[in-house]
Formats: sequence, structure tokens, C-alpha cells
Amino acid sequence: MKKILLAGAALALGLGLVACGSGVNKDGLTENGKLHMSTNAEFAPYEYHEQDQIVGIDAEIARAIADKLELELVINDIAFDSVIPEVTSGKADIGMAAMTVTEDRKKNVDFSNSYASSKQVIIVKEGSDIQNSEGLKGKIVGVQLGTTGDIYASDIENATLERYSKGFELIQALSQGKVDAVIVDEQPAKYYTKGKIDLKILDEAFVEEEYAIALKKGNTVLAEKINKALEELKEDGTIDSIISKYIVAE
Ligand code: ARG
Repeated sequence: MKKILLAGAALALGLGLVACGSGVNKDGLTENGKLHMSTNAEFAPYEYHEQDQIVGIDAEIARAIADKLELELVINDIAFDSVIPEVTSGKADIGMAAMTVTEDRKKNVDFSNSYASSKQVIIVKEGSDIQNSEGLKGKIVGVQLGTTGDIYASDIENATLERYSKGFELIQALSQGKVDAVIVDEQPAKYYTKGKIDLKILDEAFVEEEYAIALKKGNTVLAEKINKALEELKEDGTIDSIISKYIVAE
């Protein structure tokens, strides 16, 4: 009896391993005909809610990629720090969330070619004594949980970090004086401070970054298709026109 149970368990385990060994079908997808994208749609102009839709640069680029691959795009809006786990577990085919390529993240996921560049900026209240990143020492700094801003802020001497899950909560906290400064990506910073005369973005951009699409490690089938689609969309000007629709050049 025991033996049979053990054999059964081994078989079940074996089947389980086969079924989720790579977790994807021959097209590199978790579900036939669909491209499941996980994002955190609290990050205008890259991904945000407009009425009942998720719009923004990433959403439109993903849609253009899905169209090229003749797939239906399904967007799942979750916390930013859950995007990589959903890609590694195979719940999502791609993670696209204004996500910066970092060496650390590369240990868990593969990245497509980059589709946009960005930088981290500091936002303070008008009249603040903080003039640059040096001035953040010993201050209360607001960041979005699990972002590169969070990682950089963790290195600031004697700073106290307040971590928020949504982009606009950062700005609220700053306006309300709960934090002294916020570290966030440049374009969301511009978007969130627009029309807010009590807030200003410091000139110093202290880290340059590249955004790319996260894929399950080893899913080269999908990575190749996505990179090919991205290159075509760069060449025919689609990416530029999507970006300039959301980001007005200064
Ligand atoms: N670029 C930063 C990072 O990769 C922040 C991204 C936040 N994205 C979002 N959709 N909330 O960590």
C-alpha cells in the first residue's frame, strides 16, 4: 500500500513537473492565443486607468506587439512588487510596468530589448532646503514599494523610508508634509506634479535607466518574437508616436 502511494506520489510529481516544467506552450505563452501582461496601472503616463480602460505608453506598446503577434492582450493590474513574481510563476507572459532593467532583477527574469529610457528624479516642496541627492541624508523619503527609487533611497545615510504602493500616494504624502522628498521616475514625476505649484522637481537626475519587458527566464521563443516586434515598431515609428502622444517634448 505504502509503495503504491509512493509510486502515485512520484507519478503525480513527475506529471506536475512536465506540466509546469517550462509552464508555457510551443509559442512561449501560458494560454493559447493570449498575451497575459501584468502591470501596476498607477504610473502615468506609462500605465494608468482612464474610465474602465488601462491606457498609457506601455499599454499601447503592448497592444501593438500583441497585434503583430496576432494575440489578444490581457492586462492584469497588480502591485508593482508582484509583477516579477507573476512572470516567474508563469501567471503572466510578460511584465511591463515602466520596469527598469537591473542586474538584480535579471537573476529572476529575462528582459526584452529596451523600449524607453528614463531617470529617477527627486520631488520636494517649494521652499525645501533639499537641493540635490546629498540633501536627502537624514530626511524622510517617500518611494513606491519595490521600485528602483526604493532601492536607491535605501542607500541614503540616515534617511527614513516611507513606502507606498501607488504612485499618486507619494505626491499626496509630500503635499501633506508626511515625507520631505519623493524619489520616482521622471515622467510620472512630471505627470503627478503638473499644476501643483507647491511642489518642484529638482534638476539633478541622479540615475539613468532603461525600461524593458520582463519575461520568464529561458522563454526565448517569446523573447525573440517580442524583440522582433519591438524592432519593427521602432523602425516604423510606432513607438515614437506612442511616446510622443503621452510625453510632450519640452
Ligand atoms: N522604473 C521603476 C522600477 O523599475 C519604477 C517602476 C514603477 N512602475 C509602475 N508601473 N508602478 O523600479
